[in-house]
Amino acid sequence: MMSFFLLGGFIACAGKHVGASCPVVMSPPAVVVAFGNSFSVNCTSLSNQIDGMGWESSAGGTKLTTNVTSVPLNIASIQQWSLEPTCYINFISGRQCLTNLPVTVYKTPDIVTVSQLSPTDPMVEGRMYILKCNVANVAPARSLSVQWYKGNEMFHTETFTETSLSPLNMTSTLNLTAHRDDNGTQIWCKANLNFFPAGPNISSMSTKREEMTVLYPPTFFKPANETVEIKAKSKLLLNCTATGNPAPVYSWDHPRPSEQTNEDKNENPPIFSPSYHLPGNYSCTVSNSQGTKTKYFNVIQEPGNRTTFAAIVAVFVCLGILLFIAGFFFVTPNGSFSLNTGSYMGGQPVPSGPV
Ligand SMILES: *[C@@H]1O[C@H](CO)[C@@H](O)[C@H](O)[C@H]1NC(C)=O
Ligand SMILES: *[C@@H]1O[C@H](CO)[C@@H](O)[C@H](O)[C@H]1NC(C)=O
Ligand SMILES: *[C@@H]1O[C@H](CO)[C@@H](O)[C@H](O)[C@H]1NC(C)=O
Ligand SMILES: *[C@@H]1O[C@H](CO)[C@@H](O)[C@H](O)[C@H]1NC(C)=O
Ligand SMILES: *[C@@H]1O[C@H](CO)[C@@H](O)[C@H](O)[C@H]1NC(C)=O
Ligand SMILES: *[C@@H]1O[C@H](CO)[C@@H](O)[C@H](O)[C@H]1NC(C)=O
Ligand SMILES: *[C@@H]1O[C@H](CO)[C@@H](O)[C@H](O)[C@H]1NC(C)=O
Ligand SMILES: *[C@@H]1O[C@H](CO)[C@@H](O)[C@H](O)[C@H]1NC(C)=O
Ligand SMILES: *[C@@H]1O[C@H](CO)[C@@H](O)[C@H](O)[C@H]1NC(C)=O
Repeated sequence: MMSFFLLGGFIACAGKHVGASCPVVMSPPAVVVAFGNSFSVNCTSLSNQIDGMGWESSAGGTKLTTNVTSVPLNIASIQQWSLEPTCYINFISGRQCLTNLPVTVYKTPDIVTVSQLSPTDPMVEGRMYILKCNVANVAPARSLSVQWYKGNEMFHTETFTETSLSPLNMTSTLNLTAHRDDNGTQIWCKANLNFFPAGPNISSMSTKREEMTVLYPPTFFKPANETVEIKAKSKLLLNCTATGNPAPVYSWDHPRPSEQTNEDKNENPPIFSPSYHLPGNYSCTVSNSQGTKTKYFNVIQEPGNRTTFAAIVAVFVCLGILLFIAGFFFVTPNGSFSLNTGSYMGGQPVPSGPV
């Protein structure tokens, strides 16, 4: 009895202002409902010093009910985007208090699409593209978030401050500067209505995944010019491997043995391994529709092998000298070979006898 009295006193004070908070419990405390669906709420008074209570709402209410401490509101099919039902209590004292129930009416999007992204129209690295994620006919916009994905990685989120509660076409605009790493990745977006955990967990809606193609100029794995030594025992390998989109085409310019001029114009592998080991300036030119790059290989003799090389050269030089000397003594000036090294002058007809 004492507690009722105290509570009554409190209500008397609070009840001075119509609309001030009421000693009521709403069950559930807030409603999130899909357009066209039904919902029900109980308004329960914590006081029994009441004359009657009821609901008022633009979607239909309940009559003032006497001799109760709880009154339900049942809406069979919600057909409006904005409503705020009010539970009211008339106290025995003649005062009245009101409590509003927050109701959110939502509608999932008809469709979600990405526009201005055509897979047949490749992107070019470094250029900016404006992509749009279109969310058709969604309500309320302020509960919408749009997430952009590359593959499975979410990289951009947009939320909206739109106050209208009716369905709208919403667009998230993204400025994307094309990068080579994006080539072959799938871009897509996802629309979410966020009410969880206070409201239902509404499954999100995603677009198709569009595969991006990004064109970019050839790029060497090792861009620096190289100095390569000819090693006696190993093959000469010039590695010019580059990436690029479209796949780059290679062409080599290199010293050739004199008898082998421009015969092998079709040497276009990324790794060049000539059969002859000539020192000199080799270059490889890589190109695609987006650009051309050249890398130089300065091919030299291995310094550590110079003595061996010198020895080989020396052997040849000595051999040459020997041949020269031999030629001086054994070859006649008219080119015929003579074993006669006597007192006759080489090349002169041998006299047959005294003149
Ligand atoms: C409202 O209260 C009544 C009686 O206590 C109960 O049967 C009903 O399920 C309640 N409804 C809601 C929506 O809580
Ligand atoms: C109010 O309810 C009580 C008990 O449920 C009952 O005895 C009383 O007659 C009711 N009064 C009215 C006016 O309906
Ligand atoms: C939303 O977009 C659809 C087409 O996607 C169009 O038919 C409709 O009129 C648009 N609604 C508004 C409110 O702009
Ligand atoms: C995107 O690009 C447009 C056009 O260049 C520009 O007006 C806009 O400010 C950019 N938006 C962002 C977020 O950078
Ligand atoms: C770019 O993507 C296309 C399509 O997925 C693929 O065929 C191509 O090999 C890729 N190119 C590079 C250089 O990654
Ligand atoms: C919400 O729903 C999604 C799928 O629709 C599910 O993956 C997720 O676990 C749910 N979250 C919670 C907290 O229930
Ligand atoms: C390679 O050499 C060429 C010609 O000597 C020069 O123009 C170029 O800048 C060099 N490249 C690098 C990456 O050092
Ligand atoms: C050539 O270089 C590329 C990139 O550095 C490397 O992946 C490849 O294995 C090399 N090839 C050879 C035969 O060395
Ligand atoms: C190689 O040749 C190119 C063009 O013929 C020249 O630009 C470059 O400087 C040369 N590099 C060396 C190391 O001689």
